[in-house]
Amino acid sequence: MWVIFSILAGLVLVPLFLYLGNPYFFKDLDYAVRAIRCGVGLQRKQKRCPSFLGGFLEKVDLHPQKAFVVFEDTSYSYGQADGLSNRVARVLSTHVQVKEGDTVAVFSGNEPVYIWTCLALAKLGCTASLLNSNIRSKSLLHCLSCCGAKVLLVAPDLRAAVEEVMPALLQQGVRVFVLSDDCASEGIESLSEKIQQASDQPVSPQLRANTTIKSPALYIYTSGTTGLPKAALVTHERLLQASMMYGLCNVRADDVLYLYLPLYHASGFFMGLCGAMDTGITVILRRKFSTSQFWNDCRKHNVTVIQYIGEIMRYLCNTPKTPSDRDHKVRMAIGNGIRADTWAEFVQRFGDIHICECYGATEGNVGFINYIGKVGAIGKENFLQRMMTPYALIKYDTEKEEPIRDSHGFCIEVPKGQTGLLVGKISGRAPFRGYANNKQQTERKKLKDVLVKGDVYFNTGDLLKIDQHGFVYFQDRIGDTFR
Ligand SMILES: *[C@@H]1O[C@H](CO)[C@@H](O)[C@H](O)[C@H]1NC(C)=O
Ligand SMILES: *[C@@H]1O[C@H](CO)[C@@H](O)[C@H](O)[C@H]1NC(C)=O
Repeated sequence: MWVIFSILAGLVLVPLFLYLGNPYFFKDLDYAVRAIRCGVGLQRKQKRCPSFLGGFLEKVDLHPQKAFVVFEDTSYSYGQADGLSNRVARVLSTHVQVKEGDTVAVFSGNEPVYIWTCLALAKLGCTASLLNSNIRSKSLLHCLSCCGAKVLLVAPDLRAAVEEVMPALLQQGVRVFVLSDDCASEGIESLSEKIQQASDQPVSPQLRANTTIKSPALYIYTSGTTGLPKAALVTHERLLQASMMYGLCNVRADDVLYLYLPLYHASGFFMGLCGAMDTGITVILRRKFSTSQFWNDCRKHNVTVIQYIGEIMRYLCNTPKTPSDRDHKVRMAIGNGIRADTWAEFVQRFGDIHICECYGATEGNVGFINYIGKVGAIGKENFLQRMMTPYALIKYDTEKEEPIRDSHGFCIEVPKGQTGLLVGKISGRAPFRGYANNKQQTERKKLKDVLVKGDVYFNTGDLLKIDQHGFVYFQDRIGDTFR
């Protein structure tokens, strides 16, 4: 009798004490359970296909009829998207003769064929180099040469930008193809007819036999405050990890995502597109952001999840108020860089939307999620994460622009509540692959002998503060750094 009573009391009291010690205990636990579930899912997807296709192919098997991408009133199901990407893959393989290990540059704004092309390149074991659609002339040539791409796929509306540098491209031995336009021109061949005629049956996995999750999937260009863009190498493993973000933020299979951020950026591609494929949801894809169309689109398509960057939320708050401000089904906003005042204003005006602020650099190896929804915080520490991928906030001398070291030459961790430089330990689980063709910049992001002799950390360049409850706050950014 007493034994049962004590067990029952224990069942009630232990969580109570844990709760009193940490008011976020249950939310932390809930998040940890979700993280473990996502981790298990990740293993399963890697088995299905050891690339970022894993999550997508799993969903194609599961619900081929479900809408995957809706673009300008045309809807493409998961099955159709798979078939369309097979067509593109066949033409790239047989006609353009790209093969496993090649890098292919994609120069286009947001449109469905962008997605099919990236899927196709992964099916061939190629690396997609995602060029910013705003770059021109010298920048364009620089980005092409630093990823070593010999094939450039261009959208019809960007032909002029390519024609401008055609002589230099020919000299570099770069072949140019346009995906969805019939009229070819000097040096530019159209693939659209061939794609329409190609079979939509899967290409042989033999074509990507040597591709593993450690293989490069993408180059994403990060623009520093100075100089030309740098190509950050993104492996399939990193993409798969980033695609778990939606699951971690509690996106459900019946959600509908509004995606207007450029696919050539990490927030659009990693979190938006890969997150959607990972959770198997429908994506309402838009060419670009429009303040006037934003809420109309959300209403029209029953959007439930939006992805943001800080400025976008500010633009939305700056529009004139209308009676229909709260007339929508958006329940969650995922992204980064929203300021505390904008956050408060946004939810006050547009209704009870759960804001899930995330932090992470494109090329970085440490990130946070504010899964609690605490206004102003960019993340919440979690014991599980700290154990799996260690990081530290270290003392930093803003005058000398370097970390402060003790008498033994080691960096010093700041106490709770104080500002420090975030560094993430580089390990097998949290690698840093660096920048293509830029050893100097790659080395500059590494910090050695941080806490013990011989360790190496990734220097995020961000000064953060972590409070006693584990909430992470952004303070400042140092030197020539970027997200
Ligand atoms: C895979 O790699 C091996 C050894 O590097 C090579 O012999 C083989 O041809 C490669 N296979 C493909 C499909 O590229
Ligand atoms: C949105 O939801 C409403 C009501 O639930 C439904 O009638 C409508 O067909 C939906 N629209 C779309 C595009 O799914």
